Amino acid sequence: MNEIKIAPSILSADFARLGEQVTEATQAGAHYIHVDVMDGHFVPNITIGAGIVKALRPWTDLPLDVHLMVEEPERQIPLFAQAGADIITIHIEACPHLHRAVQQIKDLKVKAGVALNPGTPLNLLDEVLPSLDVVLLLTVNPGYGGQPFLEEMLPKIARLRKRLDEGGLKAELEVDGGIDAERAPRVARAGGRVLVAGAAIFNSRESVGEAMARLRASLKGG
Ligand code: DX5
Ligand code: ZN
Repeated sequence: MNEIKIAPSILSADFARLGEQVTEATQAGAHYIHVDVMDGHFVPNITIGAGIVKALRPWTDLPLDVHLMVEEPERQIPLFAQAGADIITIHIEACPHLHRAVQQIKDLKVKAGVALNPGTPLNLLDEVLPSLDVVLLLTVNPGYGGQPFLEEMLPKIARLRKRLDEGGLKAELEVDGGIDAERAPRVARAGGRVLVAGAAIFNSRESVGEAMARLRASLKGG
């Protein structure tokens, strides 16, 4: 299975020592650090703001992959770009002016991603898909880490993979929610290329290094 990237989500990390956990994930071979931003409106939970991204910036050279689960993301985009985000992904469901918001991210020289909740159809991406750097497919209903993976999302991943390949489109297909060593191979076989994992990486059962090694090993099976 060609290079599948792993993006540990700090949502399940120890918030009392985020810098160290980001360093552990970096040293364990992560490709991106996935930062789940929640505003308590678009999703019930509140997590972190741009100030935490700014504080984490010096702790890793990896791309900071910021997932904005917020209402009116256009107001947050400049703040997270300024804080050091390398990828900013906004939710299509929170963006009546999606084309403008994607352009706003790209004008700030940051990679632009669009995320879709499980119930949102792929064709809503049609007009912006060619300009995207990332499409993030949610395989849980967003708002919390550690939720069960929604198996019925596998065909949606495969359909998007087909669209991207047939169109020769550059967007990375990133999958987010409930991914662990058991589901990772199926997500990769369906066409996911960047796998977000929160609870599977940051948990009390094992070290970040052990968890990353287990997830990577599960992908070696091909
Ligand atoms: C949406 C968040 C979470 C997180 C991954 O709720 O985006 O999906 O990144 O969390 P796990 O891997 O614990 O489901
Ligand atoms: Zn996320």
